Amino acid sequence: MLDQLSAIAAAAFEQCGFDPALGRVILSNRPQLCQFQCDGAMKGAKQLRRPPMEIAKAVAEKLAEHPAFAMVDVAPPGFINLNVTDEFLLQGLAIAASDARFGVPATENPRTIVLDYCGPNVAKPLHVGHLRPAIIGESLKRLMKFLGHKVIADNHLGDWGLQMGQVIAQLEELGKTADDITGPLLSEVYPQASARSKTDPDFRKKAQDYTVAWQQREPDKVVLGEKIIEVSCENFREDFAVLGVSYDYWYGESYAAQFVPAVLDTLKQQNLLRLDDGAQVVDVTRDDDNPPLPPAIMIKSDGACNYETTDVATILQRVQEFAPDDIWYVVDKRQALHFKQVFRVAHNSGIAPEDLHLVHIGNGTMNGADGRPFKTRDGGTMRLSDLLEQATAQAMEKIADSAYILDSEKPQAAQKIAVASIKFGDLSNHWAKDYVFDLQKFLSFEGKTGSYILYMLARINSILGKASDDTPQFAQLTGDAERELAIALLQTGQQFAQAAAQQAPNFVAESAYTIAVAFAKFYHNSNILNETCAQTRASRLALCKLTQDILLLHLDILGIEAVEAM
Ligand code: ARG
Repeated sequence: MLDQLSAIAAAAFEQCGFDPALGRVILSNRPQLCQFQCDGAMKGAKQLRRPPMEIAKAVAEKLAEHPAFAMVDVAPPGFINLNVTDEFLLQGLAIAASDARFGVPATENPRTIVLDYCGPNVAKPLHVGHLRPAIIGESLKRLMKFLGHKVIADNHLGDWGLQMGQVIAQLEELGKTADDITGPLLSEVYPQASARSKTDPDFRKKAQDYTVAWQQREPDKVVLGEKIIEVSCENFREDFAVLGVSYDYWYGESYAAQFVPAVLDTLKQQNLLRLDDGAQVVDVTRDDDNPPLPPAIMIKSDGACNYETTDVATILQRVQEFAPDDIWYVVDKRQALHFKQVFRVAHNSGIAPEDLHLVHIGNGTMNGADGRPFKTRDGGTMRLSDLLEQATAQAMEKIADSAYILDSEKPQAAQKIAVASIKFGDLSNHWAKDYVFDLQKFLSFEGKTGSYILYMLARINSILGKASDDTPQFAQLTGDAERELAIALLQTGQQFAQAAAQQAPNFVAESAYTIAVAFAKFYHNSNILNETCAQTRASRLALCKLTQDILLLHLDILGIEAVEAM
């Protein structure tokens, strides 16, 4: 809609002999005054050496002739204020309602994007730190797919590093075999092994040796290691299923290992590998790096391959298998240095073609009330499944007395509400931000929350359910609340494009909230089911139906499931 209006304004600037680029129309900063505005006259005043009011008046005169506008006004120091006609809005609504994409255009330049998100380390359960990258990545996958890109989601499991040696060594000392390995056993063994590594030098040495042995595929290590991966992934899948997170591949570091020799060959051929204190490293720093970047360690002095190595090898694998235009990594921002090093090695060696975009979307952390990464009450790391259970229990309390949901359906509804609230609370924050996890606030039916949006959708469901014999049909808009809702709905394409350009699902969350608020206003101001004029009723129902469809589309892109009633 804004592109359409901007094109009209650009033509008006041009007709007046001004630069058409000045004709950019945006949503009004003062919605009580007008729906849209154009600030081009102020921007162009210097360039054109004319007072902005004069420019604005000349352009406004042209715009007033255009049938899209119901009002064109000029305000000092040079604003052009605009309202569109109801016909203009109704036309947009009718197009959106008859379109499978609800009027949101697909991209003209589809790209192939590998999305690497979360990638937890096996041998330990998912914890709350995995929440942000998992759900931001999932949402980006859904958004870019919807916009017409080819997206390949890969869960890059950590299954090649020291934790493997630690856990295998500890399991062996406890006399456990592969058949004994279960989720609960792993959650006991990993903390033991990691604590011993810190205090017991012999054990640490053993864990390091075992890591090398695992990487070199020593059969007894492989039997335990593979079972650790299998059991961990089963548990991951359960948590991810609750969160609505899914992947095309679960390749992991171990899969990349077969590409490590080719990486080392390339680096050797190009004289990029250097021996440093027994380790093989690549220098990646550039003159303009302040402070300089440390070298990337490819092979440690004990012969083990590093996190950097498998990540470079994974780029090689992805280039060969998928020929991507982009690889996006949604991973904690504290890994920024790691990705800088990996991207430099890949680009400097040509393993990543020059035009391959490697992007680290470094997510912030979910914090507790103390502003530090969220912990359990006794200061431990909070498991994701425990958090989800707690939230579900609280959501259950909130809907316990609801007459809208059958008792038998309440447990499932409570889980959906809990997940929606947690995910929306997270996704409404820009990915780079840290935010405070406040379950009480997230679960509230008021404010910018997932519960609020689900609640509004439930109201719409109930209206449409009672009007199932009607034929919704856009005919007219009556009142500003309806116009505001129409504008919010017709902004969807713009909001999605913004989210894609900035790789930021929070724009989708924001748009969903704006629509829900606009709907609430309309719902309180207008008769819908009680409306006696058939045409008005049909038109308002059409507005309900389109709001439902577009809100569900937003939720789908956020990876949030709605509930039928609440
Ligand atoms: N396994 C890593 C961790 O737990 C995250 C992996 C992210 N992806 C990647 N290609 N490095 O911190």
